[in-house]
Amino acid sequence: MIPLCDLKRQYQALKDQFDAAFAEVAAGAHYILGPNVKQLEADVAKLCECRFGVGTANGTDSLHLALRALRIGPGDEVITTPFTFVATTEAIGIVGATPVLVDVDPKTFNLDPAAVEAAITPKTRAILPVHLYGQPCDMDAIMRLAQEHDLHVVEDGAQSLGARYRGRPVGSFGAAGCLSFFPSKNLGAMGDAGMVLSNDEELAGRVEMLRRHGGQVKYYHAELGLNSRLDELQAALLRVKLPYLERWVELRRQHAYRYNTLLADVDEVVCPHELTETGPVVPLGEPPAGDGQLVHAAYHQYTVLVDNRDAVAAHLKEAGVGHAIYYPVPLHLQEVHAGLGYQPGSLPHAEAAAARCLSLPMFPELRPEEIEEVVRVLKEAIVAAK
Ligand SMILES: Cc1ncc(COP(=O)(O)O)c(C=O)c1O
Repeated sequence: MIPLCDLKRQYQALKDQFDAAFAEVAAGAHYILGPNVKQLEADVAKLCECRFGVGTANGTDSLHLALRALRIGPGDEVITTPFTFVATTEAIGIVGATPVLVDVDPKTFNLDPAAVEAAITPKTRAILPVHLYGQPCDMDAIMRLAQEHDLHVVEDGAQSLGARYRGRPVGSFGAAGCLSFFPSKNLGAMGDAGMVLSNDEELAGRVEMLRRHGGQVKYYHAELGLNSRLDELQAALLRVKLPYLERWVELRRQHAYRYNTLLADVDEVVCPHELTETGPVVPLGEPPAGDGQLVHAAYHQYTVLVDNRDAVAAHLKEAGVGHAIYYPVPLHLQEVHAGLGYQPGSLPHAEAAAARCLSLPMFPELRPEEIEEVVRVLKEAIVAAK
């Protein structure tokens, strides 16, 4: 059995440090917004080259609170991608704004800037790019559009901690960058947790106020907020993991390039593309060290496209190879968004990706021989599914 993601390997390797961190928080008894949350906020902000980090209860709240803090609400439109987890549009809906879903680039699966531009109306307040699977969006084009049309950019960086664009961490480009520390993420807690990054002091202050019942002073409340604090215990556990993040992302990159190289002669499989100055390409060989490339992808997922995807997936299951379909139905065709009026065929690239995408095992501790076995079984599955 090769799992899609094995959190136990990481836990076993760092068990003693987790136990010590847990014991320290338990003994200190400062359980809410204690020193670990404060330090984690500072450390993650620094890593992401942002001035401020505000811990939240989860990534969905990070998005929701960032939009609230920007005073985006009823009557406003937010342009985003249909090929993402539902939390992205949920956050837009929760603040009362309307998600405007536009098609993705068929190779990177991220927002197509030309489609974004075509969807801008007088009601548009923000663009919400999602760095899906850890692949940075085309931030030059998105930031240019935002500037030209005076729009906010809120980045959904739930899957992309450790990724960079032009050498700069994703999540640091927009007014706010929203992180998730869901257990399987690049930096995962042992429960839910999230963070909003920003270089804007006022915005960070508003998120901080909203996450704790809308008040800066205890028992005085300026706005309707909510309880969305990052848990102190989770912060302590995340601080144990943070020093390893860069190494873990490098391992993910090595695994992805290894998969690409082993699959290079398999015509039926489309491997993940990375953005370059001349367009998206499938990188082969060893990932280059440093920031010489346009993007430094963080490979939260390793996702390929295949025909007969469901039959291929069934074969992988039979052979004990973990896999997942992120995401089988694009958001414009989800029941929850039926009211937005999209039809099958409205956003063809997103629909094609949803029909053919297949995520393969990807986590830092994955072994080279496991990657070879996944590729062997995948080749077998493709032949069997024909
Ligand atoms: C793209 C994306 N956005 C938002 C979220 C929401 O994060 P969380 O599960 O921490 O609420 C997730 C992860 O689950 C995600 O993958």
